[in-house]
Amino acid sequence: MSPHRTVAGPRAPASGRLSRVVSQETTDPQTDAVGRPLPDFPEPAPLASHGPARVIAMCNQKGGVGKTTTTINLAAALAEYGRRVLIVDFDPQGAASVGLGISPHELDRTVYNLLMERDATVADVLRRTEVPGLDLLPANIDLSAAEVQLVGEVARESVLSRALRPVLDDYDVVLIDCQPSLGLLTVNALTASHGVLIPLECEFFALRGVALLVETIEKVRDRLNPRLEVDGILATMYDSRTLHAREVVARVHEAFGDDLLQTVIARTVKFPDATVAAEPITTYAPTHSGAAAYRQLARELVARGDAA
Ligand SMILES: Nc1ncnc2c1ncn2[C@@H]1O[C@H](COP(=O)(O)OP(=O)(O)OP(=O)(O)O)[C@@H](O)[C@H]1O
Ligand SMILES: [Mg+2]
Repeated sequence: MSPHRTVAGPRAPASGRLSRVVSQETTDPQTDAVGRPLPDFPEPAPLASHGPARVIAMCNQKGGVGKTTTTINLAAALAEYGRRVLIVDFDPQGAASVGLGISPHELDRTVYNLLMERDATVADVLRRTEVPGLDLLPANIDLSAAEVQLVGEVARESVLSRALRPVLDDYDVVLIDCQPSLGLLTVNALTASHGVLIPLECEFFALRGVALLVETIEKVRDRLNPRLEVDGILATMYDSRTLHAREVVARVHEAFGDDLLQTVIARTVKFPDATVAAEPITTYAPTHSGAAAYRQLARELVARGDAA
């Protein structure tokens, strides 16, 4: 991560490159899905002290691309490496909360209260999880009202940023699980963040809408949050057996270059299974390749300087 890295935009495809990339042998453990040399990302060194946190928004207005799955499992993997991690569930569906075993209806106070009540503090809302080092600010359907109510607030785009500020020194990484929209809640998440991770499902229409997302990120950077940058694009639900999935990844690489992370997340039923069990895959199936993939993602982000 260079301090001046700008938000990525689609690049002109290099002619003939796609077919070359796609025909590449992808089972070689030394190369990634587009044929780049794949380093053995080192295990992150233990941290002597914690904070201040780097805040990362998990963002894509397309639904069902793996935002919540990535939030939970990346957070759990970073926590395994000794990082103190806070997940902000910023989706009224509350999927990140449910995925960590918190029942949305029995919640007294949620991220909604944190946003809308001046005297509410993070401590009032914070939940510990079963994963040591991983905390959660839960959400439920109440949060849907905030989208409307925030419109009348002063500095309505930076309400989350202000609410999180007092606890940033307590964490190494804060991950914000966004809802599938580019509305005011997502703009709040982007305003509170240092970086954005964009999960993309490896299917034909994956890139549709990404230009709009990049435009939104650029607007937020220009008007509200100059430090904001794209940390990376994560290919999810990848099936290496299909030419189609490999083609999609190759196209993403053509469009976004090295913003495409080298780690790809394979499609496996273990992820929905872990959600039903309300656990990260790193504890539900610790030796499964899906757990290994999210650990690799954690190591890659630390190696890139995108996480502590
Ligand atoms: N790598 C994967 N392999 C198989 N299934 C997956 C994978 N990643 C996520 N899923 C499943 O796909 C569904 C959508 O994933 P997830 O909820 O993480 O997406 P999302 O982007 O957060 O969705 P939304 O936009 O609705 O918030 C879930 O049922 C999840 O268990
Ligand atoms: Mg989600």
